[in-house]
Amino acid sequence: MRKWIAMVALAIVASACIVQAGERLKIGLALPTQQEERWVRDMHAMQAEAEKQNIDLRVLIARNDQAQQNSQVEQLLSQGIKVLIIAPHDGEGAAVAVRKCHEDGVRVISYDRLIMGTDVDVYMSFDNVAVGELQGKWISNKVPKGDYILMSGAPTDNNAKLFQQGNLNILQPLIDKGDIKVIVNQPVIDWQPSNAQKIVENALTLSNNKVDAVLAPNDGCAGGAIAALEAQGLAGKIPVTGMDADGSAAQRIVRSLQSMTVFKDTRWLGEEAVKLAILMAKGEDIIPYTKGQVVNNDFMDVPSVLLEAVAVDKDNIDEVLIDSDYLKREDVYQ
Ligand code: BGC
Repeated sequence: MRKWIAMVALAIVASACIVQAGERLKIGLALPTQQEERWVRDMHAMQAEAEKQNIDLRVLIARNDQAQQNSQVEQLLSQGIKVLIIAPHDGEGAAVAVRKCHEDGVRVISYDRLIMGTDVDVYMSFDNVAVGELQGKWISNKVPKGDYILMSGAPTDNNAKLFQQGNLNILQPLIDKGDIKVIVNQPVIDWQPSNAQKIVENALTLSNNKVDAVLAPNDGCAGGAIAALEAQGLAGKIPVTGMDADGSAAQRIVRSLQSMTVFKDTRWLGEEAVKLAILMAKGEDIIPYTKGQVVNNDFMDVPSVLLEAVAVDKDNIDEVLIDSDYLKREDVYQ
């Protein structure tokens, strides 16, 4: 009888193990938008890594709307995710979602954009102040003196502040010296290219087309800015920055319509995020992984992994974007 009970118990334990072994680890991915090509690439990189590691990656995309993203996170929690990777639309507004995750014992990776004012488990991004400095250096080398249009990204996105901080680390001394005159300094709501276009149109009208440089915070905004310049016959005559290495921006760079972009390898970031999420799901300590690096989010020093970015212009585009297989030659040179 005892033997029989032991055998049944063993069978129950074994079948429980089989169910668990058969069930793939669920990781949630909440993305803010697919407006920029980069977010599609981030998603593909994460899906590829998840497939490689046999992870069930559940993806939900908000349309630049934090209320929508917060309810998507609740949806993911109800599907039984063990870790959430989230690029917030609104860095402050996403704090609620983090708290919900923690109530359910789900750890959170703040992906690319930092979630503010709450205890985020880890932040993975690029060194975004350094990204802004790359833009500032490039444009001030090209136009050391003159009238500038400065734009920054969405005010809801902490990255926008970091990029502009980097821009000003380089430009402010030249502004103080009087070499650079800022004719407009405006944020681009929701990073919308059409908003950037309006800002540049208004600045051109205001200054009678006397503009020497345009600091656009990303490639989408650069596209909007260049459309405004084109309407005045100025496209290609006034340097415009960008960021993201979008395919369309690369095309503009080789046609000398856009001056530069910043390459942030989303393949790398995406892959690392999934790897880290797996470690977190296993309850492993992530501090060794972050090597002591932190970024403050107005609540705490968040353990952080920050990757490096590279400035790209006509001179190194082949080497950086095509040779690395990020973009295809035939798509860039059309
Ligand atoms: C990202 C950029 C992107 C922008 C708009 C920022 O947080 O870092 O790569 O272009 O959001 O989506």
